Amino acid sequence: MDNIYLDYNATSPLDKEVLDTMLPYLTDNFANAMSFHSFGQRAAQGLEQARNQVATLVNCQPSEVIFTGGGTESNNSVIRGIARSRRSLGNHIITTQIEHPSIIKCCKELETEGFEITFLPVNSLGQINVDLLEKSITNKTILISVMHANNEVGTIQPITEIGEIARKKGVYFHTDTAQSVGKLPIDVQTMNIDMLTVAAHKFYGPKGIGALVVCEGIELTPYLLGAGHEGGRRAGTVNVAGAVGLGKACEIAKTKGESIIAKVKAGRDRFHKIITDSLNNVSLNGHPTERLPNTLNLSFRGCDGQKLLIATDIAASLGAACHTTSRQPSAVLTAMGVTAEDALGAIRFSFGKFTSDEQIIEAANRIIKTVGNNK
Ligand SMILES: Cc1ncc(COP(=O)(O)O)c(C=O)c1O
Repeated sequence: MDNIYLDYNATSPLDKEVLDTMLPYLTDNFANAMSFHSFGQRAAQGLEQARNQVATLVNCQPSEVIFTGGGTESNNSVIRGIARSRRSLGNHIITTQIEHPSIIKCCKELETEGFEITFLPVNSLGQINVDLLEKSITNKTILISVMHANNEVGTIQPITEIGEIARKKGVYFHTDTAQSVGKLPIDVQTMNIDMLTVAAHKFYGPKGIGALVVCEGIELTPYLLGAGHEGGRRAGTVNVAGAVGLGKACEIAKTKGESIIAKVKAGRDRFHKIITDSLNNVSLNGHPTERLPNTLNLSFRGCDGQKLLIATDIAASLGAACHTTSRQPSAVLTAMGVTAEDALGAIRFSFGKFTSDEQIIEAANRIIKTVGNNK
């Protein structure tokens, strides 16, 4: 067995069933979905079916789904769009220190334009303090953006509770669900969500396509300007084949997701147990239970995560990014109070439905052998 892929949070392989659904929209049904002729109408039908499939998965209206170029574009659109459309009502946004850079960087940009941003801290398990969030709301707060589940450690935030507070205070609530769609149940209505980010490639859909759910009545200044695609909410000819793929991925998540996730979680937990049964000095980064079912971020104290991955031929992500001369601990681990040494030895393993039992056992054994059986 060669290289083992345990990096599903970075991206997942395309599901064959998704690919088969997309192919006719890359060939015969190639037209622009805005065109009035029959070619365009065929593409439009596929697009509308996909919109329904996304809406069904997260329980919103199809008219509330806007197709985008992925998670980054959806997140940028919300932060910049709400900042523009609600500027006259206030200049304060609340988010967290552990958001994806597509949120953090937009917020930092807004700071230079006179906005005030509260970056909420997290505890050592990666969760925010909801009381602190509530206390941070002022009469100038126009948006709260808190991710559902963190991409590095998998920690889940109490979204329903946050949404309840936002609603009580009359503040819009956006959540980045790029990592949780298809892995956790999401219900826009019962979770009090106003806006939500989806990225297809994190759950077996194609790359470069995503969605932004914007609930009825919310005014969001469009990020891309041009022709009136997506009801004038997102310019640019829609990637119909991509949207159809996203729709199919949503349908599969809706119909088969629970059993897939149960299997993925069992595999992840088995991997964790094999490692901790044999190795000392391994600690979990992230919440022990309130965590994405496919995610396991471990610090191998005294090890260099990068060297460990190279030696074991495992494809996973590091807790410290490479810069030209040094290794910088990730902002997420730093916010959680993980020491620089533990961050250097941190590896995020993320599992998916194509991860086999053999790969799990083999990967765990390679790590144990390389780190040294020291228990
Ligand atoms: C939490 C989160 N938000 C947003 C994104 C960006 O999504 P995309 O790669 O589709 O732009 C990612 C991707 O890693 C993510 O993990």
